[in-house]
Amino acid sequence: MEIYLDANATTPVLPQAREAALAAMAQDFGNPSSTHSTGLKARALMDGVRALARRVLGAGTGELLFVSGATEGIQTAVLSALSALREAAHQPELLLYGATEHKAVPEALKHWNALLGLNLQVLAIPVGRDGRHDLAWLRAHAPRAGLVCTMAANNETGVISDLDGIEAALAGISALWLVDGVQALGKLPLRLAQRRIDYAPFSGHKLYAPKGIGLLYVREGAPFTPLLAGGGQEGALRSGTENMSGIAALGAVLAALEDGRVFRSHATLAAYRDRLADALRQAFPGVVFNAPLADCLPTTLNFAVPGVSAKLLLDLFDAAELRMSGGSACSAAKAQPSYVLQAMGLPAWQAASAVRLSIGPVADAAFIDEACARIRICG
Ligand SMILES: Cc1ncc(COP(=O)(O)O)c(C=O)c1O
Repeated sequence: MEIYLDANATTPVLPQAREAALAAMAQDFGNPSSTHSTGLKARALMDGVRALARRVLGAGTGELLFVSGATEGIQTAVLSALSALREAAHQPELLLYGATEHKAVPEALKHWNALLGLNLQVLAIPVGRDGRHDLAWLRAHAPRAGLVCTMAANNETGVISDLDGIEAALAGISALWLVDGVQALGKLPLRLAQRRIDYAPFSGHKLYAPKGIGLLYVREGAPFTPLLAGGGQEGALRSGTENMSGIAALGAVLAALEDGRVFRSHATLAAYRDRLADALRQAFPGVVFNAPLADCLPTTLNFAVPGVSAKLLLDLFDAAELRMSGGSACSAAKAQPSYVLQAMGLPAWQAASAVRLSIGPVADAAFIDEACARIRICG
């Protein structure tokens, strides 16, 4: 039996999400823009999921758009912010992003910055050895910035950003703020509207919904430019007939999240993580953890074993049917040292031989028992 420990790359679909998706394909297959009863049923489903997402994310009076995933959400947010900056009376000089952001963020910044002819300077906010943003640097540079992008939690290391500290560093500054919430959903409390966050993208497939569905939160009053123009769906904010099976599945996940019975608590997940870390210590006595566990999501362990390459470790784990990865899924195929760990100033060997173990928040004790037992035999 395969033990899947790569939840930060993607997750299986929760059974209730699968059922909801199938029902939306078979019975409730309507187009929510149709005005007949079949269409109205689809619209009611979609409105219900949006209302649920609003509660779960604490989105207040902000907009919540259904999008195809975080990459689209990020493009939409960046396009919106940069289009507004282009029209601003006082042009900013900088676009800032955390040095450990998922590539979707800096690549979108560079892409739209060039395409819109803004040509602002795109700078990485340095992070410390703990993976957290350098707030003194941010305070010094934010007054000249038009957009600041800081993820809520890192996909490779699980490092949780100090959003309170970042918000304080941005106090009194007009820059827009994008927070990539992909890895935080279901693992950290998100009260979006209580912060001055302007944009927050999410991806369904990182939390037991299928691939191809996501959400973008846009604070009320934040600048907005549609990425997709056409039939005027989503209140003309995102055209294209909605992915109703994806929306239905995401709704089932959000319902489970709100209900609180399917997803484990932070304390339970932290205890699971500690057991997995102990199993790694027993199997590989020299193992080092690449980020302070206390500052990380309780679902992610990033580690290295001196003298053992990531490839060797991953082959060993794979033979034991333990699926892990050497960093983010997008860069796994490239087999290059992790830019995230390099940005944290880790020694070259550690950045080059890092392995990521990530569990999803519905893991149970039997699953963790089996994972620990298999890790031990790999030592
Ligand atoms: C933190 C983070 N942001 C953005 C993305 C992009 O998500 P997607 O590929 O689902 O669009 C990912 C996916 O790995 C991620 O982990």
